[in-house]
Amino acid sequence: MKAVATLLPLCLFLAACSGIQSALDPAGSEATDVATLFFTMLTGGTIIWAGVVGLLLYAARKRRVHSERIAGRLILWGGAVFPTVVLFALLSYAVWLMPNVRPWFQGDDGGMRRIEVTGEQFWWRVRYLDAGGAVAFETANEVRVPVGERVVFSLKAPDVIHSFWIPVLGGKMDMIPGRENRLTLQAEKPGTYRGVCAEFCGASHALMAFTVHAMQPQDYEAWLAARRASSGAQDAEGLALFLKHGCSACHAISGTQARGVIGPDLTAFGERGSVGAGTLANEVEHVARFLRDPGRIKPGVQMPHFTMLPDAEIDRIAAYLTGLK
Ligand code: CUA
Repeated sequence: MKAVATLLPLCLFLAACSGIQSALDPAGSEATDVATLFFTMLTGGTIIWAGVVGLLLYAARKRRVHSERIAGRLILWGGAVFPTVVLFALLSYAVWLMPNVRPWFQGDDGGMRRIEVTGEQFWWRVRYLDAGGAVAFETANEVRVPVGERVVFSLKAPDVIHSFWIPVLGGKMDMIPGRENRLTLQAEKPGTYRGVCAEFCGASHALMAFTVHAMQPQDYEAWLAARRASSGAQDAEGLALFLKHGCSACHAISGTQARGVIGPDLTAFGERGSVGAGTLANEVEHVARFLRDPGRIKPGVQMPHFTMLPDAEIDRIAAYLTGLK
């Protein structure tokens, strides 16, 4: 009964480790090694803890007097030799795992697929690069990677430090103004996951997430091709309102006159799961709320409010944006 009482909370605790943003429910090779290391340490720690508690109970209940020689031996073996051996073994294991956890990146990317991600306040600019390094197209707050292929992320930031982290795929890496950090990750399981900013960067640091889609290679290629061809010119009325109210000063939509570069690129915006970098679900009503007064939803956001526009026009622009595929 006691064992059940001990194990039940542990099982409940571990059950909470699964999910789209859990480093303990890995979907990539690096994250698998991180999780293996964690569970190895957890198992070792639990066994040692149980042993120490056992000894403590033994000492508390059996009021036998031991000789000083036995006490001295216990201190030598249990207090010096055992921790030295165990810590040395665990450290060796961790060091041995390390090259897999963060594959060493030699300047040459060997023709690997490159995705450039820039941490903005407070969203993610995502650029897919061609083999030659030219920008094929840009998107925001969503990263797509093919399963079974190592991808290089070029990480940048224009003003403050952010940290790029996809827990299910691997460790985090800082995005530092004035330099480019490179991180390679490989997804092993297709699925939709969540990435976050892991470095305090301002008022909306906690509202700075992104969606990660790990796709089968053929689906990925199809998506790349579709994305290159997507255009926001289908809904002429919605587009006209978007342009009329100056949205295009900051936002771009491919195939239209909207070529702003300050804010997130909105091409195929309707495909994204959220508005405001993971803040609200991507539904017309939420987008309209965001357009009307973004600062109320995301403190510190650079986008101005548009409370002066008639509701009908805001709703029309929101419908246009969510319809972009
Ligand atoms: Cu960006 Cu925290």
